[in-house]
Amino acid sequence: MRVIIEPSAELGSQRAASIVAQLVRKKPRAILGLATGGTPLKLYQELIRMHQSEGLDFSRVTSFNLDEYVGLPPTHPQSYRHFMTENLFRHVNIDIRNTHVPDGRALDYETYGSQYEAMIEEAGGIDLQILGIGRDGHIAFNEPGSSLGSRTRLKTLAPETIRDNARFFGTEEDVPRLAITMGVGTILESKKCILLAFGKDKAEAIAATVEGPVTAQVTGSALQFHRDVVVILDEESASQLQRRSYYDEVEEAHRRLQSGEVK
Ligand code: GLP
Repeated sequence: MRVIIEPSAELGSQRAASIVAQLVRKKPRAILGLATGGTPLKLYQELIRMHQSEGLDFSRVTSFNLDEYVGLPPTHPQSYRHFMTENLFRHVNIDIRNTHVPDGRALDYETYGSQYEAMIEEAGGIDLQILGIGRDGHIAFNEPGSSLGSRTRLKTLAPETIRDNARFFGTEEDVPRLAITMGVGTILESKKCILLAFGKDKAEAIAATVEGPVTAQVTGSALQFHRDVVVILDEESASQLQRRSYYDEVEEAHRRLQSGEVK
């Protein structure tokens, strides 16, 4: 894991956006894995800015979202499809037919999960997966106890996730109890991952994910098996990391390599 600690969420999001932009410029038909929640919002704002003022071209990009609440139609203001439309898709030139968000109204979730996996495979696999993290260390909706080999399937939300996400719905009662989500195994197959976390509420989950043992109780920790993960943090979310000075040294070494100071 490469751990990058930026002074603020703004700078961290810009750093993530530059990695996404670099990929899209190099590979116009890139397959992006996208996430929802408060965390990637600034990243999406920066991508929109890059599209509008630097001509970053999404016309041939394909996207797959991590998850969706069960029972919400795409038009529901809290559905993840609606979130993506409002916060990214309608502001850039992505072809909406190439955007995929799991269908929260599928009738047969087992079949639907396999179909979603097949669509990702047929597209050539995810080049770059954006991830946030829950306070309990979950990625997508892979709640504590999820199999680290899991694939796209139905998942019951944990009580802490229902509490956390109630802020978007108004009350806890309104938060759906089920979601359809890519599995940990699905996420591990993406070619590269960027894990974003900002704010002190994420510090514990980040310490467990980056430095803790790999465990199904913290599904983010499975990313330790992935060969290309960039973890982008702000000072607050990095505050419980034990090896902080080492991560800074690695970044300094990267900087010197790139600037040609080290041959
Ligand atoms: C939900 C989503 C996750 C997201 C998490 C954290 O559970 N399914 O993909 O990472 O919330 O959300 P936030 O970024 O709002 O803290």
